[in-house]
Amino acid sequence: MSLTSRHLLGLHGVPKEDIVKILDSAVSFKEVLDRPIKKVPTLQGKTIVNLFFESSTRTRISFELAQRRLSADIVNFAASTSSLSKGETFKDTARNIEAMKIDMVVVRHQSAGAPHFLSRIVDANIINAGDGRHEHPTQALLDIFTLREKFETLEGLHICIVGDILHSRVALSNIYGLKAMGVNVSVCGPATMIPREIEKLGVDVYHHIDDVIPKVDALNVLRIQLERQEGGLFPSLREYHNYFGVTRDRLDRADKPITILHPGPINRDVELSADVADSEHSVILQQVLNGVAVRMAVLYLLSQSKP
Ligand code: CP
Repeated sequence: MSLTSRHLLGLHGVPKEDIVKILDSAVSFKEVLDRPIKKVPTLQGKTIVNLFFESSTRTRISFELAQRRLSADIVNFAASTSSLSKGETFKDTARNIEAMKIDMVVVRHQSAGAPHFLSRIVDANIINAGDGRHEHPTQALLDIFTLREKFETLEGLHICIVGDILHSRVALSNIYGLKAMGVNVSVCGPATMIPREIEKLGVDVYHHIDDVIPKVDALNVLRIQLERQEGGLFPSLREYHNYFGVTRDRLDRADKPITILHPGPINRDVELSADVADSEHSVILQQVLNGVAVRMAVLYLLSQSKP
């Protein structure tokens, strides 16, 4: 069993059949995580390099755990302590690492397109762990897996992605993946945080959270990227919370329970009130657990692909 492509660079254009294969394989790998000995020999003899040029907690640890659970050999690369600081280029760094006979690269980079560039210059399978504002495919896959666990079927669900859609790689990958799976997708946020012409991706746009909450099955609440707000996209964090914050009051006004996802890290009481983050609505920690199983599935399926 393998996927259509030998890389996972994004979810744009990935067929539904590939997404279903990943989700179904992740179900089996999640069962491994419940065993007393959480390890299988699936990737024994394979070498994987984790190239992280940007900070990460969940994605980095989750990939590393997934690789260890599959018995792969792992090399972790941190840009700050590498020869990049002596002026070596990204291309030379990649080519030198590949010369040591590696099989897969997991890459997070601040520049959109860095994983695509890597896939053209090295033979290893490339997995995008987040590139700039572009895509974060494994985050979207674990979000979709978590929704499928919760609702059993995805077809016809309505999911709204709330917040800073403009700067979000999670939003774009979710839109591509959810649309492929037959989900109705909308986005909600201040006009300054919604990309122009996003409707062309087949999503509805809302600017008032109270208008969309009664219509949805789940909200995927994005982090307000405090490090990118110097441009004054909204007047203050308090104002953002007042207009777009997902609070218990707002959820209680809906006539059905609404599931809350968040990719993390959370700004408590900004995009999501602290009590909702820890409430029965929240599947945030299930997302984190599912991330390991989904990444095991991606690593396994890509390892089966032909060079
Ligand atoms: N969700 C996510 O990408 O989190 P990290 O930045 O901690 O990896």
